[in-house]
Amino acid sequence: LALVLVAPSILSANFACLGEDINKVEKAGADWLHIDIMDGHFVPNLTIGPQVVADIRKRSRLFFDVHLMIEKPETLIPSFVEAGADLITVHLEACVHLHRVISLIKGYGIKAGVALNPATPVYLLNDIASELDLVLVMSVNPGFGGQTFISGAVEKIKELKQLLDNKGLNPFIQVDGGINETTGRRVVEAGANVLVAGSYIFGSSDIEKAVQSLKF
Ligand code: DX5
Ligand code: ZN
Repeated sequence: LALVLVAPSILSANFACLGEDINKVEKAGADWLHIDIMDGHFVPNLTIGPQVVADIRKRSRLFFDVHLMIEKPETLIPSFVEAGADLITVHLEACVHLHRVISLIKGYGIKAGVALNPATPVYLLNDIASELDLVLVMSVNPGFGGQTFISGAVEKIKELKQLLDNKGLNPFIQVDGGINETTGRRVVEAGANVLVAGSYIFGSSDIEKAVQSLKF
């Protein structure tokens, strides 16, 4: 029984053959496709825009989990919805009017998530938690694949689980950054149920084995 969902991050795919790499993880049993969107401002890196998402939408039936690491996400949310996102996660640090942004996403009939950078405390979710389908705990500073897992994320997930339990809420708890079989087990034990993994999956010589190894 797979209680944990695995969301390969295409940040570590080969963008010269993105469609093929996506088909590989889909065949390997991935549950979601994690799509990292970076603007060179909120994070010091650039990735892809809505057109690429729309193009890969035609090649994959996976659930599209779009992680926006951009300033003013409200300006691009309509385009990513149009492109085929099933879930859009915005960073708490990037939203002055977080409640408005979450309402905007949910108004399109798709799921909404909020991501927390490693230095952002869980208690800031107190007044928005009931509106969320997902909380993303970043276990690296966003911007790049292949970074080392920040182990403080484990305690943070426990704290988040506590906050949610106290309110009788049950959104997905996703973790992103430095996830492999070892760190994945630790965060799942702490309460996470969606694991994002980029370099661990796409850098593996056996992609199916890597995906399956995270289905705790
Ligand atoms: C980091 C991105 C992650 C990244 C994870 O800014 O949000 O999704 O692709 O890569 P790994 O699994 O290699 O740490
Ligand atoms: Zn991500």
